[in-house]
Amino acid sequence: MLILGIESSCDETAAAVVQDGRTVLSSVVSSQFDLHREYGGVVPELASRAHVEAVLPAVREALSGAGVGLGMIDAVAVGNRPGLIGSLLVGVTAAKALAWSLRKPLIGVDHVHAHLYSGMLQVVGAEQAAHERGGLSVIPSPSFPALGLVVSGGHTSIYRVDSWQNVVRLGATIDDAIGEAFDKAAAILDIPYPGGPNLDRLASTPGADDRAFDLPISRLAPDSLDFSFSGLKTAVLYATRGVPGSRGPVHTPLTPQQRINLAASFQRAAVEAVLLKLKRALNLVPRAGSTGTLLTGGGVTANSRLRAQLQAWATERGLELLLPAPAFTVDNAAMIAGLGHQLLAEGRGSGMELDASPTVSA
Ligand code: KG4
Ligand code: ZN
Repeated sequence: MLILGIESSCDETAAAVVQDGRTVLSSVVSSQFDLHREYGGVVPELASRAHVEAVLPAVREALSGAGVGLGMIDAVAVGNRPGLIGSLLVGVTAAKALAWSLRKPLIGVDHVHAHLYSGMLQVVGAEQAAHERGGLSVIPSPSFPALGLVVSGGHTSIYRVDSWQNVVRLGATIDDAIGEAFDKAAAILDIPYPGGPNLDRLASTPGADDRAFDLPISRLAPDSLDFSFSGLKTAVLYATRGVPGSRGPVHTPLTPQQRINLAASFQRAAVEAVLLKLKRALNLVPRAGSTGTLLTGGGVTANSRLRAQLQAWATERGLELLLPAPAFTVDNAAMIAGLGHQLLAEGRGSGMELDASPTVSA
């Protein structure tokens, strides 16, 4: 079964062809970064127009990359929520037109739920290559209910995933998303764009002391599964520029080593905050016997420290960790096609009345 996926929720226009929900035959991501750079953020109206220009070329490139013709596609999946409404509408309209003209099923997919699916994807040949190395040849299916974590530039949420169509949000950020906090901390520390990955790199400098600065890890209420990163961000600001109105000694600029240590301390605190809430959430997700799965996704799953700590924690708890391959940590359409496949298999097709929605699913 070949599914064409389309994604246009924010500033990336993406298309992909995925076979049987697992094997990515092609994944094209066209970024609008240069278009929005001078404004310091995504301008929704510019984003929509750029999607209109990029969506069909992305689809064509995905089809030719997969070596398939449009007539061989069995269904069209599209991210229809959440995101910028004008941007979403472009992808939804393109997907509807393609599905209608091909007389094939259409399926609307929640973008954030699709991030949870991204660890299920593998690229062509990966199975064979892993087998030859003696490693894991096939990514296992999750055992439901699974624990889910999405950490990106727009979302920081924990889920109980009862099935691919029943995803229950247990907690979310009450202020900044974790990726946003990485980007803002990077800006404060004068780390060039892209902030998150470059902060990760700086924090990984040999000799970095991740305990040099005692930064706050927000706990919120004792049983809360929500996140807050604004206090951590402010602490980085004060450590860099001094506390406004402080009567203490005059603040001196950070030395290069202190800057490295502050980046490492920030990264440690941000990752600890995620692990803290995952530990709390694990008690709320019933496990069948000794099995259990942790599904993860979103741009920040590319973070070296988070990946290592998630792996260590999952191993310690006997959880199977499904981390996306680096190419599928960012917004992409392969995760949309993959989750679309599962939803269609569960009988959840959408009709031509499918609409875009800016808000997250309940
Ligand atoms: O999933 P994504 O593309 O964002 C949304 O669609 O919301 O993720 C982008 C975010 C950015 O904030 C970026 O700085 C962060 O993921 N990011 C990282 C790393 N790579 C990307 N943050 C920390 N460490 C990284 N290695
Ligand atoms: Zn995303």
